Amino acid sequence: MTASITQQRQQALEKRYGMQMPNVAGADWNTLLSALLLERRSTRAFLDVAVSDDELRTVVAAAQSAATSSNLQAWSVVTVREAALKARLAGLVGKQRHIEQAPLRRVFVADLRRPRALEDYVGSPATALDYFESFVAAIIDIALAGQNAATAALGLGSCFIGAMHDHPEQVANALAPPPESIAVLGLLVGWPDPAVASEVKIRLAGDIVRHIDQYQPFDSVAPAGYDGVMRRSNEVSVSAQRTGETRPPSASRGRKPWAGVVACSTPCAHAAFGSSNETAHPRPRRRQ
Ligand SMILES: Cc1cc2nc3c(=O)[nH]c(=O)nc-3n(C[C@H](O)[C@H](O)[C@H](O)COP(=O)(O)O)c2cc1C
Repeated sequence: MTASITQQRQQALEKRYGMQMPNVAGADWNTLLSALLLERRSTRAFLDVAVSDDELRTVVAAAQSAATSSNLQAWSVVTVREAALKARLAGLVGKQRHIEQAPLRRVFVADLRRPRALEDYVGSPATALDYFESFVAAIIDIALAGQNAATAALGLGSCFIGAMHDHPEQVANALAPPPESIAVLGLLVGWPDPAVASEVKIRLAGDIVRHIDQYQPFDSVAPAGYDGVMRRSNEVSVSAQRTGETRPPSASRGRKPWAGVVACSTPCAHAAFGSSNETAHPRPRRRQ
């Protein structure tokens, strides 16, 4: 017997949060919400079946349908088909077997060169493109477009590859993007291998990320929502992956602390973080 929509949504929510959830009968719901969003997961095992040009074009159309800051559309996407190039990129982003295995690798490029060329073409000066905000807008555009591409993938599976920007110069040598552009995000696409389960990964309890009127520090909200579920899940710690708690210092691969870089680059960040490398907010206390 197939589950009713009410049962489906309850199941989807409980899978997503890894715990029993109150009934959300008051919220509007449709089956697409479950299929495309709540049950979304990354795919890291692919069948050796090609993705057709028609499928490719459809996915790009979906990506282009995402919101884009000032309709600037400041991104491009490079599909890598050539075997030697695939191997070269895979070599740059560490030992991730799924990168070699995926039939399709796409690289989203923050592209401020094309808007500038278009502005030149229509004869209006493009000074706004010089500011850091335009770069940030391009990155945000890529995140939205990438998620649209992943969502629209017609039964295809996908996995983002952030490591693509770990070696910007080498990636640039491989893909030859123009000046004023930089490879930001990889996206693997392919038909999921049904023999390899890819589970829905649970998220922090909604209460931890949902604030009303004013931000409530994590410590005062619901650490139990973290300890109770996330700690038991396969994520050891959300931040540990990034802060290096579980990785040696060499794993930072020359990355710079972001606060100082951003504070020097943009007025709004300057207000939030101050002009020195010290952040205005104290670092959160490490919980014992
Ligand atoms: C910006 C970004 C970069 C990512 N980079 C990688 C990566 O390099 N390799 C990988 O296997 N997964 C990568 N992922 C996928 C995340 O690991 C994954 O989304 C997360 O663990 C949650 O799992 P889920 O997508 O199945 O819900 C990336 C995701 C994002 C959004």
